[in-house]
Parts: sequence; C-alpha cells; structure tokens
Amino acid sequence: MKNVFNTYKMRNIELTNRISMAPMTRSRSSKSGIPTDMNAQYYAQRASSGLIISEATQISLQGQGYADTPGIYTQEQIDGWKLVTKAVHKEGGKIILQLWHVGRVSSSNVNGLQPIAPSSLIAKDTQVYVFDTKRSKDATMIPVEKPREMTNEDIQQVIKEFRVAAKNAIEAGFDGVEIHGANGYLLDQFLRSNSNKRTDKYGGNKENRINLLLEIANEIIKEIGADKTGVRLSPFIRFKDMEDPEILDTFMLAAKELNKLDILYIHLCEADWDDAPQIPETFRKELREIFTNTIIATGSYTLELANDVISKDLVDIVGFGRYFIPNPDLVNRLKMGYPLSEIKDSHTLFGGRDEVGYSDYLNYKN
Ligand SMILES: Cc1cc2nc3c(=O)[nH]c(=O)nc-3n(C[C@H](O)[C@H](O)[C@H](O)COP(=O)(O)O)c2cc1C
Repeated sequence: MKNVFNTYKMRNIELTNRISMAPMTRSRSSKSGIPTDMNAQYYAQRASSGLIISEATQISLQGQGYADTPGIYTQEQIDGWKLVTKAVHKEGGKIILQLWHVGRVSSSNVNGLQPIAPSSLIAKDTQVYVFDTKRSKDATMIPVEKPREMTNEDIQQVIKEFRVAAKNAIEAGFDGVEIHGANGYLLDQFLRSNSNKRTDKYGGNKENRINLLLEIANEIIKEIGADKTGVRLSPFIRFKDMEDPEILDTFMLAAKELNKLDILYIHLCEADWDDAPQIPETFRKELREIFTNTIIATGSYTLELANDVISKDLVDIVGFGRYFIPNPDLVNRLKMGYPLSEIKDSHTLFGGRDEVGYSDYLNYKN
C-alpha cells in the first residue's frame, strides 16, 4: 500500500518522500525583506521533507501585509533566497517559493501604502502585525485598513509582478513556484462573491471571478513552464471574513481550468488552526476526476490520516505545518515512531530577535 514514505516523481522533480513542509510565515527576514543565513539554516534543517514550500513571499511592496516577511522583487532579495535554495539542495531537498499578494489584508502601517483589493470592502475581524523599530517587544496586532478598489491598470500591474516574481524565483534557484490563492489573500478575495463585487471581467459570476488566477497562472507558465507552477487554494476556509456560499463551485471550476493549463499541482489548504472543517470524501473524489496532476493536501494531518488519504489515492503528497516547527527531522521521527516535540513558545512563531524558536530546535537523538 502506498504511504507517505514512498518516493514520488512530480513531473521532473524527484521527491524522496510524500511529505511536504507547508508554507509558514515566520517573519524573520532582514530589513527590506531579504532572506538571511539564519533562514537558510532553518530551511536546510528541514530538507528531509520531500518538498519544502517556502513561507509566503511578497511579489511587491504593495503585496506585503505583515512585518519582516521576505520579498522576491529586488536583486538583494533574490540573492538572499540563493542562500536558502543552495543550502536546501545541498541537503538533498527540493524547495518551491510561495508567491504572495495580500490584497486587503494589510495596513499602511506595515508598508506605507493603502491596501488594494477587488472591491473597497474592509475584511472584518482581521488583523496584521508590526514590530517596534527596535523589536524590543512582541508583535503588535493592528486592524487592517479599508482597501481601495483596484483599477484595471492595478490588475495588469499585479499580473506582471507575479510573472517577474516567478522569473526571479527561478533565478534564485527554486524548483518551482506556488501561487498563493488561499487563506483570504488577494487571489482568494477575487475568487469569492463576498469580497469581489466587481462588474468587469474579473467579477460578477464564478467564470469571471477565476479570471485573475488563471491569467496569472498563464503568465507564469509562459515565463517558467507549467511543470514548475503550482497553485494553493483553500475552499473550506472562512476566516479573514471569507464566508462565500459559492466558493466550492468556483473552486471546482478553477480546478477544471487549471487542469487544462496542465499546472504542476493543486495544494489544498484544508484547515488553518481552529478553522478545521471535515473534508468530505466526495469532494476529494470529484477533485481527483477533474484534476489529473499532483494533489497536495495540508491541514491538521497526523501520520495515520496522511497515510489514509495517500493509500486511497485521494491525495499524492501531504503537507505538515506546525509539526515541522519543533521537529526539523519530522520525516525520520514519523518513520521511526520517535516522539514529536511541541512548540515551546508561541511568541516565537511570528518574528523573534534571533534563532530562538526558529532554528534552535534539534533533531531527535536516541
Ligand atoms: C506559523 C504559521 C505560518 C503560516 N504561514 C503560511 C503562509 O505563509 N502561507 C500559507 O499558505 N499558509 C501558511 N500557514 C498555514 C500552513 O501552511 C498550514 O496550512 C496550516 O498550519 C495547517 O497545517 P498544520 O495543521 O499541519 O499546521 C501558516 C501556518 C503557521 C502555523
């Protein structure tokens, strides 16, 4: 029976197992969103996962929503990422860059810019964080600001930024990119009827609401190839004011169209912390029929649940998020049945002054 420890060939990318380290924002880039040696060490420590998907990485200053997240739009950022990809590849790992535009989930206190979104609708009960300049305190949570509605020019600009970011990712040595279409950020805002009230070709019905995602995917494919382009989506998630009764139909339509584009994978973000609904097997089967390439699923998995969906051939790769933070050698621990460590201090999840709670977790020793 198939299980998570099997090797897996995802087009030209050979994975040593079917476990992925899920994308996790850790807010530890240097000034101006430049990755550092410490980031390289953190990712290299986790390179025994079959596939690392990097933390979300903004494609422009406008696309940033939180303090100290990395970017992929300046030469210094590209050079910083080279440290990471080199270190991961040296350990035999594979790494994909998650491309991010937060849309309305931002504040001018983060990047000096009014957020932009499909419609001028503020995300209720949604916050982002900043640090004081000396980072002497914990992150300070602040409410997001009302976005301005994107003009057609803004949309074309974002499409271009995604394409350039994908090109930069390949220059930085990544094995591919993942378009972040999940978790209430810009592309998810376009997909959903509650956040997208546009009347142009990017809104009004589900056929139009998927247009921006498809146009971006198309442009990236032209730049780096379909075999290097994945997409993350979260049809079951409702946090960040993303309740949309039409999202499942919209998602299935997007999956059908992405299948025509022959993209590398769809990565389902199934649960986020407490927002963790049960995923019906009928949904998984329908997606399998519609989408023929790799399916990655992430969200509250245990080894047992992961092996269940893989052995039933509903999913090809399972992502683990939180377990990878205190267990850099997660794959070996699961394989050997070693105990799993817990996150020691949740204040170190997002930001921190040094390696504490980041790259100071050790491998399990007998
Ligand atoms: C600290 C932290 C940061 C995260 N940052 C991102 C991110 O940058 N991009 C993203 O798509 N998901 C992000 N997520 C969601 C994870 O990728 C994953 O879907 C989620 O943690 C559920 O998986 P788990 O139950 O195995 O932790 C983050 C989760 C955590 C815990």
